Amino acid sequence: MSSKLQDQTIAIIGCGFVGLGWAIVFARAGHPVTLYDPDTAVLDCAHARLATSLQEYAAAGLLDEPVAHILGRFTAAPTLQEAVAHAVYVQENSPELLELKQDLFSRLDACAPPTAVLASSSSGLTCTDVCGRLSGRHRCIVVHPANPPHLLPAVELVPAAFTDPAVVERASDLLKRANMVPVAIGEIDGFVMNRLQAALVQEALELVEAGIADADAVDAVVRGSLGLRWSFMGPFETMDLNAPGGFGDYAERYGPGFARLAGAESWPQDAIARVDSAMRAQTPLDALDEKRAWRDRRLAALSLHHRNAEAADRSKENLLRASAKP
Ligand SMILES: NC(=O)c1ccc[n+]([C@@H]2O[C@H](COP(=O)([O-])OP(=O)(O)OC[C@H]3O[C@@H](n4cnc5c(N)ncnc54)[C@H](O)[C@@H]3O)[C@@H](O)[C@H]2O)c1
Repeated sequence: MSSKLQDQTIAIIGCGFVGLGWAIVFARAGHPVTLYDPDTAVLDCAHARLATSLQEYAAAGLLDEPVAHILGRFTAAPTLQEAVAHAVYVQENSPELLELKQDLFSRLDACAPPTAVLASSSSGLTCTDVCGRLSGRHRCIVVHPANPPHLLPAVELVPAAFTDPAVVERASDLLKRANMVPVAIGEIDGFVMNRLQAALVQEALELVEAGIADADAVDAVVRGSLGLRWSFMGPFETMDLNAPGGFGDYAERYGPGFARLAGAESWPQDAIARVDSAMRAQTPLDALDEKRAWRDRRLAALSLHHRNAEAADRSKENLLRASAKP
């Protein structure tokens, strides 16, 4: 197989929100991208939608080449067979329905080149459930993005026990070359991203249900505190900086209180030790103050960004209001 990206075709199967985001990820990296959707109206609009997203992306200063070059890499395919005929990698993005995905993967396994990786964007259905009965199941894997994939780089790589480790490696290399951040995890219902999201949203809805906070209050708290920090640090890195002796110290001080709030007896000891040693491998204790100063600089830069973005939103609204006046 050629190592040149322009010789490595990617097939996007299902062109809704996630499929079109993936199409941009691969085309902006230099891959030819074939697009297939059984709904011809979706396929007919795909080029115009991709153009709009790419123009916005370019306006933000994020493209290194003209939009037209990237648009030139897309080809709409009238059939599934034609879409995957020359693909080295297939990214499936059909609705989250088990039987539909099982049927689709069995057709993909039959018509994609035998060496092509077959990846699913499934946000919860596992590769074991979707692909377990296929003769080519060794080349199947879940590659779960956040939406929209072209703006959110983290992507969960979730192989089944039967997935060939070489397939995980090939998917990971391809995604890294497309500027994504692949994270390999074990197979579990909801994966990591949606399990974390589920825990937070469950608690948020229960607070709303109990009348403790309304929707705006929950959103304001997350937007103005947890979310700002989490946009450049994970929850463990965040806590590591919030006690003088790092994560282990934090767990001793605040762990019992957090566990009680989550309805657990305690934080799991083994996990605390593993997280603490991962944090120390990243940042020695005597460098924590320096990292706190870095965090504050990043937060200050974000404050400025949000201040400017809010001012731009307000002036756009004012212009619209002024132009709407008779
Ligand atoms: N929306 C999200 O936030 C998000 C995030 C990550 C992953 N996902 C996952 O990505 C997948 C797609 O989600 P979406 O939000 O893009 O849905 P969507 O409804 O926007 O798009 C699904 C597309 O699949 C097409 N389709 C229907 N049947 C098909 C078939 N048999 N073969 C091929 N295509 C078919 C539809 O015409 C539609 O265009 C789902 O598995 C979903 O769980 C969604």
